[in-house]
Amino acid sequence: MYPQEPDRVSLAALPTPLIRLQRLERELGRGQIWMKRDDLTGLELSGNKVRKLEYIVAQALADGCDALVTEGTAQSNHCRATAAVCAKMGLQSVLLIRPQPGGVPAGNHLLDLLFGAKVKCFPRERFESDRREIVDSVLADLKKAGRKPRWVPMGASEPIGCWGYIRAIGELAEQLRSQALDQCDVIVPVSSGGTFAGAVLGKLMGRFQGIHLWGVPVSDDVAFHTREVGDLCRQTIERFALPVDFSDSEMLFMNSYVGEGYAIPYPAAIDTIRLLARTEGILLDPVYTAKAFCALLDGVRDDRFGNSRPVVFIHTGGIFSDFAWPETLLPEPH
Ligand SMILES: Cc1ncc(COP(=O)(O)O)c(C=O)c1O
Repeated sequence: MYPQEPDRVSLAALPTPLIRLQRLERELGRGQIWMKRDDLTGLELSGNKVRKLEYIVAQALADGCDALVTEGTAQSNHCRATAAVCAKMGLQSVLLIRPQPGGVPAGNHLLDLLFGAKVKCFPRERFESDRREIVDSVLADLKKAGRKPRWVPMGASEPIGCWGYIRAIGELAEQLRSQALDQCDVIVPVSSGGTFAGAVLGKLMGRFQGIHLWGVPVSDDVAFHTREVGDLCRQTIERFALPVDFSDSEMLFMNSYVGEGYAIPYPAAIDTIRLLARTEGILLDPVYTAKAFCALLDGVRDDRFGNSRPVVFIHTGGIFSDFAWPETLLPEPH
């Protein structure tokens, strides 16, 4: 695709479909709404993480590594995708989970165990205060046991992982061209930042002027994400000598969709999950995609997108965590 692109292992079902949500448009009475179905990158591997892991795994294999070690919450989609990729590739996965989950494992946590991940749980406070020591000692123990582990940062958001969405934006641009959509707003949830950073760089690399990209923070404030995503973009540009002019103004955010905090759903997000399920038979998740879709709905309803342009939502997956929130998601009785 680009001469700077590193090797990748093909794991995801690509290209993912770009579909129009006409029943939702009718329900809202406005908008031209499209969805890029990155939730369909593969059942067990579903979502955005596998695009990043394709490059990370290729590098790990080239370096002779035989284990991936990473971190997240019990409902982390990234941990589940890493565990699934490792199972598929014959690697050991080790997941540092915090906080200690209670009750019977459900959703992503259940899948981590089925995929054979070694799961080590830590109270949140302990992990936060002793993070470096914990990670170092897990890696040292694996080495002592004869393994060659590779550390994967949270959300696989590291420079090589950004190639997942550099490539995805190229894929999307081609699909938009074939639908004669030369101007559109594209919306993506932002947490550890690698998806949005890759998308921003992908837009710059391909000079896709007609794509107006918006990140919707779902975990922290805009100042935090501007710093984190900006740093990741700069590191990726330097590491791969990307021929792009990047400045903070390339990162546009739609603010105020975090709610009370990461993984704390709010009523509008739950209503949005029900709306998409009812009108389109598509599942969003309460942590990432439902909050980001709230931003899309507000934008369409209030005509916030330029000249009522078509809008494209990148559905980054996450549906397994729906099974960990049954009481919250249960539809209102009619
Ligand atoms: C389903 C889903 N959507 C979006 C995101 C956000 O992507 P990123 O962490 O690359 O910002 C994540 C991961 O954190 C996720 O699991």
